[in-house]
Amino acid sequence: MPDLEIRNLHVRAGDKPILRGLDLSVTKGEIHALMGPNGSGKSTLANAIMGHPNLDVTEGQIFWGGQDITDAQPDERARLGLFMAFQYPVSVPGVTVTKYLRTVINAHREAKGESPIPLKEFRQTVEAAMELTRVPREFSTRYLNEGFSGGEKKRMEILQMALQHPELAILDETDSGLDIDALRVVAEGVNSLAGPDLGVLIITHYQRILQYVQPTHVHVIYQGRIVREGGPDLVTELEAKGYGWITDELEEAEAVA
Ligand SMILES: Nc1ncnc2c1ncn2[C@@H]1O[C@H](COP(=O)(O)OP(=O)(O)OP(=O)(O)O)[C@@H](O)[C@H]1O
Ligand SMILES: [Mg+2]
Repeated sequence: MPDLEIRNLHVRAGDKPILRGLDLSVTKGEIHALMGPNGSGKSTLANAIMGHPNLDVTEGQIFWGGQDITDAQPDERARLGLFMAFQYPVSVPGVTVTKYLRTVINAHREAKGESPIPLKEFRQTVEAAMELTRVPREFSTRYLNEGFSGGEKKRMEILQMALQHPELAILDETDSGLDIDALRVVAEGVNSLAGPDLGVLIITHYQRILQYVQPTHVHVIYQGRIVREGGPDLVTELEAKGYGWITDELEEAEAVA
């Protein structure tokens, strides 16, 4: 049984149906790429997995480790090991990186019924994670994301991910606006953290990032449904042909039916 199993998911934002019968499964140790045109529902899917309060699940279920989490609160999902890096990271003026990371770690500890992390242990943990994700030391005293370049914001996200040890990481990538270094940062981060205990779902438009992270599974989403699935070869095919051939095929199939 897969670790994450999404069955026939229907999601609305207000009155607008966005996901319309979506199925997707991810098992730890796998790296999944989710691709699809603008507005097809990728970020909505990520938000629905994390339990975003503005979304309504009207049909279908989300299972994690065999447990139905369709109605679980976002903090409960985070406690169960789900992590998401946002498409548009916000800056938090007045809060240093160190303070932010400590708050994040302690929130996780508190959710598990543990006491706040002792200062020495915090320093060691963060130093190790910074080394792993190659975040320069001077970042710890800067305000979170304030004046950070696109690549630096991405590095911070990966650092946060390294500190949280998630079992499922969802990365919603803009690609646009990220230079090749920023993409490499994300890719390196994913590669350094990937392993048998982590499932990864990377949302992306272009093949670029997938040159550095080799996905084991590729899904194409269109109008709120998964319409194609395959291995890494599907990425090459999409890059060469665009999404048009898929939508054409779907329209033909609908015309026949
Ligand atoms: N809160 C909301 N209220 C109304 N419509 C919404 C809401 N959230 C998303 N949508 C709409 O749902 C559709 C899917 O949006 P979503 O952000 O999931 O697309 P996406 O695949 O991530 O696109 P992109 O590639 O541009 O990031 C879009 O048409 C969007 O405008
Ligand atoms: Mg999006």
